[in-house]
Amino acid sequence: MENSVTGFSKFTKAEKIDWLISNHFQNNPRAKADLERYWNTDIVLQKLHDEFTENTISNFYLPFGIAPNFLINNKIHVIPMTIEESSVVAAASNAAKFWMDRGGFKAEVLSTTKVGQVHFMYSGEFSELESIFNSIKPEFYEQTKSITKNMKARGGGILDIKLVNKTSKLSDYYQLHVTFETMDAMGANFINSCLEQIAATFKTGSDDIQVVMSILSNYVPDCIVRAEVSCSVDSLATNAYTGEEFAATFLQAVRIAEIEPYRAVTHNKGIMNGVDSVVLATGNDFRAVEAGVHAYAARSGRYSSLTHASVENGMFRFWIELPLALGTVGGLTGLHPMVKTALELLGNPSAKELMEIVAVAGLAQNFAALKSLTTTGIQQGHMKMHLLNILNQFEANDREKLQLIEHFKTNTVTHSAVVDAIENLRA
Ligand code: HMG
Repeated sequence: MENSVTGFSKFTKAEKIDWLISNHFQNNPRAKADLERYWNTDIVLQKLHDEFTENTISNFYLPFGIAPNFLINNKIHVIPMTIEESSVVAAASNAAKFWMDRGGFKAEVLSTTKVGQVHFMYSGEFSELESIFNSIKPEFYEQTKSITKNMKARGGGILDIKLVNKTSKLSDYYQLHVTFETMDAMGANFINSCLEQIAATFKTGSDDIQVVMSILSNYVPDCIVRAEVSCSVDSLATNAYTGEEFAATFLQAVRIAEIEPYRAVTHNKGIMNGVDSVVLATGNDFRAVEAGVHAYAARSGRYSSLTHASVENGMFRFWIELPLALGTVGGLTGLHPMVKTALELLGNPSAKELMEIVAVAGLAQNFAALKSLTTTGIQQGHMKMHLLNILNQFEANDREKLQLIEHFKTNTVTHSAVVDAIENLRA
């Protein structure tokens, strides 16, 4: 096959780049220069990044922004956000400032249980399987002792191991459903190592047990954090609307996201703008978080909003409940210098504290988006922030940028309006 390659993984970094440039970029020197331009001049730091994953040929920057003024459980935080999308950091900062004057955010971790499963097939009698499971169960704990020792000393470990009969869904299919407490670690490697040992021990119980796989689940409906804001309806008023008007339209927007999946997906996407950016900045696995959060949003059988709102006795309340399996030790947390900086900025939080901060970032983001959507419309604020991207697209110089930013303080930003303004200026 044209362009196929054998032994690529064994090439040096320089050989990989040369192969790529000659086979996919027609030996264009610009393509090679672009890859090299993003290398870090600090050779040790670059090597660290090269070794995070495989076949690394360059780096891919994302902005590292900060959102100040987050009052969470009576403590002020500056939240680090790694995200490329314009207006997200501004929206978070805006919501933080808004709620700072209204008592701030309250957040609480409700549960921290993680899950892993050994999936296996067994064609014999269930009663026989049950008795094998019951007799071998103490061995699961015994055989995993060396893996769980340190975690136990920190207060975690294996919580429970259950045999689950899934044969009504798939013939001969059973699981060992294992629950874990992993303290400040996200725990993926710990859980998977325990599961593989449990599977090996279980197989000794009968030749008829065929283990298919042993793996953690990224669905963590018992690892839940709740964040909330509340204030009197009156204090939501501005010059443009009364508190009652704002709260009523805001509640309708939330209700729509609760019952309409098309809207719920976008609504939750806005929440994930906040969640993912903090998860990324703190070196956590945003794919795991995304998968788990969306499964949770669909747990009733219909995809729905992750946030909810109420007005009772003149009080406006807005809250989120999220499943979040996060770590503040292990993984990238002790390796990536910017992750270390992000965690230090947050006061080196425990995993529980980080869960609270991430949930607050999601709630704040959703509040800012809904506030805009139900009042000015999203484009006014979003396009104001996106203006610099459009100007950069047209390679505006600093003088042009200053003039056009001034111009758009009193004019609506749309792509075509910016193009017209640049053309007028240059003419
Ligand atoms: P504004 O009221 O025009 O801002 O809001 P302002 O200029 O009056 O400044 C007020 C505060 O906002 C500032 O206070 C900052 O906290 C923040 P200060 O620092 O001056 O004391 N702020 C900024 N922070 C950093 N850099 C900036 C900046 N500008 C203001 N340049 C704003 C403007 C964009 C914040 C507002 O309109 C907003 O929150 N809009 C929502 C934007 C949003 O949600 N963006 C997410 C991307 S859109 C999306 O993908 C999700 C969505 O589809 C989800 C959904 O449908 O639910 C919308």
